Amino acid sequence: ISDLGLSICQHYNIRIGSIMIVMNIVENVSLRKHSAMRLGGETRFFAEAASEDELKKLVDWAKEQVVPIVVIGEGSNIIWRDEGFSGLVISNRITDRQVLDEDDNHMTIRVGAGEVWDSVVEWTVKKDLSGIEFLSAIPGLAGAAPIQNIGAYGAEISQSLVELSALDTHSDDFITIKNKACGFGYRTSRFKTSDKGRFIITSITLRLNKAGPAPPFYESLEAYFKKHKIKSYTPRTIREAVIAIRAIKLPSPAKVANNGSFFTNPIIPKNEFAKLQQKYPDIKGWPHGDNVKVSAGWLLEEAGFKGVHDEETGMATWPAQALVLVNEHANTTTDLLAFKQKIQTKIYQMFGIVLGQEPELLP
Ligand code: EPU
Repeated sequence: ISDLGLSICQHYNIRIGSIMIVMNIVENVSLRKHSAMRLGGETRFFAEAASEDELKKLVDWAKEQVVPIVVIGEGSNIIWRDEGFSGLVISNRITDRQVLDEDDNHMTIRVGAGEVWDSVVEWTVKKDLSGIEFLSAIPGLAGAAPIQNIGAYGAEISQSLVELSALDTHSDDFITIKNKACGFGYRTSRFKTSDKGRFIITSITLRLNKAGPAPPFYESLEAYFKKHKIKSYTPRTIREAVIAIRAIKLPSPAKVANNGSFFTNPIIPKNEFAKLQQKYPDIKGWPHGDNVKVSAGWLLEEAGFKGVHDEETGMATWPAQALVLVNEHANTTTDLLAFKQKIQTKIYQMFGIVLGQEPELLP
């Protein structure tokens, strides 16, 4: 466990019924290592689950001890409160990769929730499958992907996901949840709203296409292809383009503490957008059903928040994409939330829009 930088490693004897087993549950662990924003307090208990069996045992133990549970991947989209957590944090590390089914046009694959998302994408692209290549280089683990319905460059995981497996902590059963029952929307699902905390995702099943991706593509992808005179659209060329664009626009969480987009793009009625257009002719937005999805990045830039360094809180916004908040030298989550509030207040004053937060604040 030295790679986690933990000082105390306790072997807990867990009794489940009449069976005694030994699990590595570590006490008093800093949660900073488990958030890409690198802020927050300590958790009373921390453990990794490498299999469904281990996961079930940890959940049973926590129930027996009457200790609350939070399940995480590797913390890419998580912010921990400074108060920390007086329960058990389980990092889901269940790995598995299977090809379940194949016909002339599709391949169906299942991957464990603890697989690194981008290596899953790489694996499918090597098989020349199309569907998730647009979601290249998104940080985090596969099991976290459906929770916020990850999306980029015109694709969302909800378009490829057939179903997922999960441990239902209400019934203590492993169950299957079909796509239609996941409650997917723009950057949301039932797993972060009505059923938050209830299901622990253990695997996801994706149906991918053997036919290649076809234009028209998302604006910045089209621009990239034009600039580089690329006319062959394959999962591989899309993946390479997405990786190149992301490298220019977004900071790597390995080098710079950040959670990617900090705000979601607000969805507002058409007439409100039209009013804003009168005052701000350059405002960016895209039709979204009967509404308009407004570029939060544009709002932030217009409000003067692109590439700012906030000395008071130690927080900043990324110079190439204002939507990304970075922790330069903040000490606490309170600092981050103060900076967030500053931005939200200004955006509300200027545009009458309340910006929604994208990363999850825990517990
Ligand atoms: N824009 C600005 N200023 C900025 C940023 C953006 O004016 O500082 C304008 C640009 O004109 C640009 C447009 O907004 O053309 C859209 O920007 P971008 O393509 O970067 O997309 P986004 O809407 O800001 C979303 C996702 C990203 C995803 C990109 C690419 C959300 C909250 N964010 O950002 O996801 O990578 O599209 O598809 O939906 C993430 O969730 O962590 C994330 C990075």
